[in-house]
Amino acid sequence: MASRLASAPATPLSAHFHVESPKKLSYTTLFAFPSLSVPWRVNISSSRGPLLSSVNAVREELTESPSSESTDDYDSRTSSSSTSKLVLVVGATGGVGQLVVASLISRNIKARLLLRDPDKATTLFGMQDKDNLQVFKVDTRCPENLDPSLFEGVTHVICCTGTTAFPSRRWDGDNTPERVDWEGVRNLVSALPSSLKRIVLVSSVGVTKFNELPWSIMNLFGVLKYKKMGEDFVRKSGLPFTIIRPGRLTDGPYTSYDLNTLLKATAGQRRAVLIGKGDKLVGEVSRLVVAEACIQVLDMEFTQGEVYEINSIEGDGPGSDSQKWQELFKNAQPQ
Ligand SMILES: NC(=O)c1ccc[n+]([C@@H]2O[C@H](COP(=O)([O-])OP(=O)(O)OC[C@H]3O[C@@H](n4cnc5c(N)ncnc54)[C@H](OP(=O)(O)O)[C@@H]3O)[C@@H](O)[C@H]2O)c1
Repeated sequence: MASRLASAPATPLSAHFHVESPKKLSYTTLFAFPSLSVPWRVNISSSRGPLLSSVNAVREELTESPSSESTDDYDSRTSSSSTSKLVLVVGATGGVGQLVVASLISRNIKARLLLRDPDKATTLFGMQDKDNLQVFKVDTRCPENLDPSLFEGVTHVICCTGTTAFPSRRWDGDNTPERVDWEGVRNLVSALPSSLKRIVLVSSVGVTKFNELPWSIMNLFGVLKYKKMGEDFVRKSGLPFTIIRPGRLTDGPYTSYDLNTLLKATAGQRRAVLIGKGDKLVGEVSRLVVAEACIQVLDMEFTQGEVYEINSIEGDGPGSDSQKWQELFKNAQPQ
């Protein structure tokens, strides 16, 4: 059952606040951005933030699809469901997470981000309207960080946290798969309110067969086992959920690149989407496709309580066309 953890209330603070105490919840206000395309790395004092590149790139990726509509159509279609949502994104600085945030902003959907390092948000996402994007400092390994006030008004959650499968610098401070994919997910889910409309968890293919080759190699340090434990906790939480199991992720993360250049290099490839139910798919999937899938399922009632695996292959894709995504998810067969 989902429950609320008692701790001190989150303290909203003013713009670009530098967080000093890891235990103190903080809030960063970001301001509005103009609709321009810019290189990836810019100073946060500039109104042309990297997120803008990300937003434009996502839009470009989505609208380039032969099945996609014009940008104006895209805006009017997506705005219909935008006002009522407040989507909490956990892992928003990651490869999939940053694309999720970019896409939410381009759709005028309000987002709240839980990040270990709020400064990364200003670097990544530039200036945003505080009503549309709020940032809180949270390490999901620490239940005391997950104050109930963080979830006030939140309608949906997209969790794309993760760490490397094998020891790396990203494990520094004991940020291992056990701590992130199991304990972090458990802590987050335990703190979510029962009023939530959906939690989408990004997991992985292979979680049900981590003892079998080749998955057992990937699982040498437990990543698939702990992801499955996280999945099971979500499943048993009583919350409305959708689990997305991607294949090996391609495209990005974009934090070190000029995003537009990178996307132009990948446009036209791996945009056709394969969705199954279960854990049989072997292959790759574009992070753009995963991010779009996470957002699309929020509006599909029938995806509630389901576990999907997703790959992408060369060919035309659904872009942002909700109808095409619905067909893909509806036709997902147990593999
Ligand atoms: N790579 C693959 O081929 C592959 C395949 C299948 C599934 N997946 C899974 O798909 C998901 C998305 O992958 P990705 O490559 O886009 O992710 P990623 O780039 O590794 O990003 C992970 C995110 O999790 C955050 N995070 C890590 N530890 C945290 C903690 N203790 N508290 C709060 N946030 C924490 C990171 O924040 P910081 O910026 O603070 O580090 C980052 O935002 C992950 O769950 C991944 O395991 C990956």
